[in-house]
Amino acid sequence: MRTLPLIEVNQLCHDYDGTGGGIQQISFRIFKGEFILVAGKNGSGKSTLFRHLNALLMPTTGDLLVHGRSIRKDPLAARKAVGLVFQDADTQIVGETVADDIAFGPENLGLARNKIQERVDLALDALGLSQLRERNPSSLSGGEKRRLAIAGVVAMDPEVIVLDEPFSNLDHPGTLDLIACIEKLHRTGHTIVLSTHDIEKVITLATRMIILDRGRLVADDLPQALLKHLEPFGVREPCASRLGMAVQPWAS
Ligand SMILES: Nc1ncnc2c1ncn2[C@@H]1O[C@H](COP(=O)(O)OP(=O)(O)OP(=O)(O)O)[C@@H](O)[C@H]1O
Ligand SMILES: [Mg+2]
Repeated sequence: MRTLPLIEVNQLCHDYDGTGGGIQQISFRIFKGEFILVAGKNGSGKSTLFRHLNALLMPTTGDLLVHGRSIRKDPLAARKAVGLVFQDADTQIVGETVADDIAFGPENLGLARNKIQERVDLALDALGLSQLRERNPSSLSGGEKRRLAIAGVVAMDPEVIVLDEPFSNLDHPGTLDLIACIEKLHRTGHTIVLSTHDIEKVITLATRMIILDRGRLVADDLPQALLKHLEPFGVREPCASRLGMAVQPWAS
């Protein structure tokens, strides 16, 4: 029996202001357990596409289905299944302590106190923030803030975690920590969709890669199959691949 897609994107178009900007005619499907890397130059439409995955934006034409239900008819089902970590996610902080900040989402879901606590503990652990639970979020480093933003999404218990440019402004150790956290989230059953300009960092974790160019989907294949076809779309080929070597995991 063929598994049903978790998300189905059908001829999706978003035109922000009638000038044809945004995204056009995008179709693809996302299956449970995938790790999809989305690449493309500035303005190619990655963030616009991502904002449809959890129904923050509605299609101008076309549709997007989550578990077979259109986001037009049931945006809440999409928001429950898909957690989006925004580009510049560090600006979303709302709590007085790290733990309070993570609890904010589950509290809004109306969960019982002990359930909220359980979700917060799991998210702290998943993002390596347990030691920092009582800290004021404004005192965290940039890398810690980024992990806090992701923990807030993880605490909502989404099946799919969408990360828009999660590595921007992180130093090398901060990047390595985050890669390890994302790998663990994938290993523990989350479906991951991630955009980055530096595909070298996660290409060995990705099961599939999509390239956007001027709002259109121009490639959708195994990452290995696309390595030699990236540069016309403004995506840098990993160094190892340019030197004719196999690309190694970044964390090793
Ligand atoms: N709120 C908006 N109003 C009008 N046009 C917009 C808006 N947001 C994005 N766009 C346009 O839509 C296109 C796609 O932008 P988007 O932010 O999705 O690209 P991106 O691939 O995420 O870029 P980046 O790599 O810079 O984050 C661009 O041409 C952009 O100018
Ligand atoms: Mg973007």
